[in-house]
Amino acid sequence: LLESANALILGIDRSWRITVCNRALLELTGFGRDEILGRDVRDFISSDQRQYLTSAFAAALLGQHHTAVTVALPTRHDGPVRTVWSIAPVGRVGAVGGPVDAVVAIGQDQSKIEALQQQVVRAERLATLGELAAGVVHELNNPLTSITVYAEYLVRKLESQGAEPPDIEKLRRIGASAQRILRFSRDLVQYARPSGREHESVDLAAVVRQSVSIFEHLVERGGIELVVDVDPELPVIQAVAGQLEQVLINLITNAVHAIEGSDNKDKAGRVVVRAAVESPSTVLLEVADSGNGVTEQDQAKIFEPFFTTKPDGKGTGLGLPIVRGIVEQHRGEITVGRSDLGGATFRVILPAL
Ligand SMILES: Nc1ncnc2c1ncn2[C@@H]1O[C@H](COP(=O)(O)OP(=O)(O)O)[C@@H](O)[C@H]1O
Ligand SMILES: [Mg+2]
Repeated sequence: LLESANALILGIDRSWRITVCNRALLELTGFGRDEILGRDVRDFISSDQRQYLTSAFAAALLGQHHTAVTVALPTRHDGPVRTVWSIAPVGRVGAVGGPVDAVVAIGQDQSKIEALQQQVVRAERLATLGELAAGVVHELNNPLTSITVYAEYLVRKLESQGAEPPDIEKLRRIGASAQRILRFSRDLVQYARPSGREHESVDLAAVVRQSVSIFEHLVERGGIELVVDVDPELPVIQAVAGQLEQVLINLITNAVHAIEGSDNKDKAGRVVVRAAVESPSTVLLEVADSGNGVTEQDQAKIFEPFFTTKPDGKGTGLGLPIVRGIVEQHRGEITVGRSDLGGATFRVILPAL
C-alpha cells in the first residue's frame, strides 16, 4: 500500500535513519532505494533548510504533528523539486507522552498541486463564462440568422435586377459580418461550455474520414494536397466522436490557413493527417502542414484563449483552446512542434483504454 501510493512517503527512526521510502519518492528524486535507506535524513537537506527541517523532525520525535512543511527535495539529475510535507510521529504507546518509535513524512510534489489548482481555477472561470456566453449567444442567434438569410436573399434579388455593384457589395458585407458574429459566438460557447456528453466506443478511422470530408472542396480546387494516413490496426477508443471531429477540424483549418498565409506560395501546400497506434495504451492523432510553422515564442501562447495572429474576421483565437479543452476532457495531451513539411505539427495523444 505504502509502496504504490501516489504520495511521497518517508519514514525515519529515532536516530534519524531513513527506514522507509516508497516508489513515488524514488521516481521523483531519481535515487535508487539503496542510496536512501539507512542514510541519515539530514544528509538530504540543503544547508539553508537544515534548521527548519531538523526542528520539524525533532518536534515529531517529541510527539508533535507538522503540516505544510515545504522542502526543496534534492534529485539525482535535475535541480531540487518543491514538495510539501506532513510530518507525524508514529508508534506512540499508551497515553500522551509515550515514546515515539519513528516519524513518518507524507509529501506531495508542489508542481502537481499547482497544476491541479490551476485546473480548478480555469474550470471555475469557464463555468461562469460559459453561462454568460450561452445566454448571450442564445439571444443573438435568431436575429443574426435573420440578417444573414435576408441579406443573401436581397443580394440575389438585386443581382437579378441589375442593381449597382457597390450596393450589392455592401449588402454582401452585411451578411458576411453577421455570419462572422455567429461563428464567433458559437466558438465562444464551444470553448466555454464543452458539451459533457457520455463517452462511447469510437472508431477513430471514421472520425478522421468524417473530419477530412469537410475539406474535400479545397482539395478539388487543387490548391492544397490533403494526405490521410490511418493505421488499419487502430483500436476502438472511449471518446465523444463529435468532439474528436471538432479537434481535427480545428487543427486542419489552422493548417489550411497556415498554408494560405505561407511565405512560399510557389510550393504546393500540403496537409498530412495521421492516426496511429502510439503505444499499447495510447493512440496518436497528428496534423502536419507545410506552412510557416509556429515560432518558439508563440508556442507558449497559441493555446491561450483569444490569441490569434490572423487578420480581423478570420481568427477568433478560440480554435486551439477548444481543442485543448476537448483533449484534456479525454485525458489526453496535445503538443506542437515543427513538421518535416516545413510547417507545424500538432500531436494529440489519447489514452486507448
Ligand atoms: N498549423 C499552424 N501553423 C502556424 N501557426 C498556427 C497553426 N495553428 C495555429 N497557429 C497559430 O495559433 C494561433 C491560434 O490558433 P487558434 O486558437 O486556432 O485561433 P485562430 O485560428 O482563430 O487564430 C493562430 O492565430 C496561429 O498564429
Ligand atoms: Mg483556428
